[in-house]
Order: sequence, then C-alpha cells, then structure tokens
Amino acid sequence: MIRPMIAANWKMHKTIPEGVEFAKQLKKEFSEPGDVDIVIAPPFTALFPVAEVLRDSSIHLAAQNMHWEEKGAYTGEISPTMLVDAGCEFVIIGHSERRTLFGETDAMLNRKIHAALKSGLKPIFCIGETLKERESGTTFEVIKKQIKEGLNNITSDDIRQLTFAYEPVWAIGTGKTATPPEAQEVHRFIRETIAADLGYAHASETVIMYGGSVNPENTGSLMDQPDINGALVGGAALDIDSFEGIIKILER
Ligand code: PGA
Repeated sequence: MIRPMIAANWKMHKTIPEGVEFAKQLKKEFSEPGDVDIVIAPPFTALFPVAEVLRDSSIHLAAQNMHWEEKGAYTGEISPTMLVDAGCEFVIIGHSERRTLFGETDAMLNRKIHAALKSGLKPIFCIGETLKERESGTTFEVIKKQIKEGLNNITSDDIRQLTFAYEPVWAIGTGKTATPPEAQEVHRFIRETIAADLGYAHASETVIMYGGSVNPENTGSLMDQPDINGALVGGAALDIDSFEGIIKILER
C-alpha cells in the first residue's frame, strides 16, 4: 500500500505571519507522523520562517519553483541550494502556471529536475493536459511527452525520488474536477509510462497525486481510485480547516 501524500500549494498567497500561523496550527493538529505525508509549499518569502515552525515535526516543506543554476547573474531567481538552505525537502516543478504563464518548457523542467536531484531536493513533478488537448483527444500523447522530455536522462534510481502530480489544466482553480474515473484513467497511464523506465515493481510504489479543484467534498471519491495516491491542493489549502479536513479524509 502506497503511503499517501497531501501537498498544499499556496501559490502567491500568504504573508509571513499568515504562513507561520497556519503552520503552527497544522503542527498542533498533526504533530506525530501519521499515515499521510503532509507537505506545504509557501511562497519563497515565508519558506524559512515556516521551516522554523515545522522543525521537529513530521510536516515537510516544499518550494513552488526554482532555477536550475547553483548561483550567478540570474536576477530574481532562487537556486536549489538556497531552497535546501531555507529548509526545503521538496520542490514543485512544472506546475502548469509556470508552463503557461512563465513559458517553462519540458527542456527547462528537465534541467530543473536534474538540478533539484543533485542538491538533494525531491521534485514534485506536475503534468497535465489543457482543455483543448483533452477535447482533441491528445491527453495521453501530451502526458507521455511531458514525462519523456521532463525525465530525459534521469536515472531510474533518481526517478524513485520523484513524486508526480497529475493536474489537468482545465481543472485548476476552476471548480471543475476530473471525475474519479477520468482521473484514474490518466493516473494509470502515468504509472504505466513510468513503469516502462522503472519496471512495474517500482512504478507501483510511486506516489501520483491528483490536483485541480480538490476540496473536502470530492477528496474521498478521488482517493478511492487505485492509482490516485494523494492530492496537490491549491485554493482549498489556504484555509486551515479545509486543508485539515482533506488530510483527515486521506488518513481514513
Ligand atoms: P486548485 O489548484 O486546487 O486551486 O485547483 C491546484 C494546483 O494548482 O496545484
């Protein structure tokens, strides 16, 4: 049985005091390691203060993005080493907002994954199709390309450090969720695609989260699907009660 993961992607939300307060409340409720891996991804400014709160807890810290270079003249960018320094264990790579709003390509994401692994960060690699791609029947093709190009020259040992997040772009922040069977179909395809590199034994241990308008009401039916192993949550992870509600459903 795969240990489920739930990750809160705060995006460009929360000041330092707001992030710290959220982390304190979460730590109070989930101080002991439970049956679910809990990850929170604050904005860069709140990473270090939130890391301080989460010290000595089993809650993990993630960044939402990073640059692939270690250092240099890259105004406005943050390196993998800086994220480790701030207390991060995970980093989200390839979120669709990075792909569409900031022009990140599969080749760039591949460089980021290599750099993250080199620094000891565990990538949460996001993949997913747009509405246009789904409607034109190319979902599987798109997903396969994202995986192949994103993981180019990544060894199978390193692929084991990765967590995947399937996030259909049309479901992110729209209130529209993929139905559990729709999501399951793509999750299964992702696992089979990974299995081609890793073999089934290891692919069957890979965490593949679902993301896109996850909330306390729809979590249960999504998590009932055999290839959905957790959730990457945006909007519903900004409120502590709603996020804790989702964690409790995953713990059942
Ligand atoms: P959402 O965002 O839950 O607000 O749809 C999910 C995500 O973008 O990771």
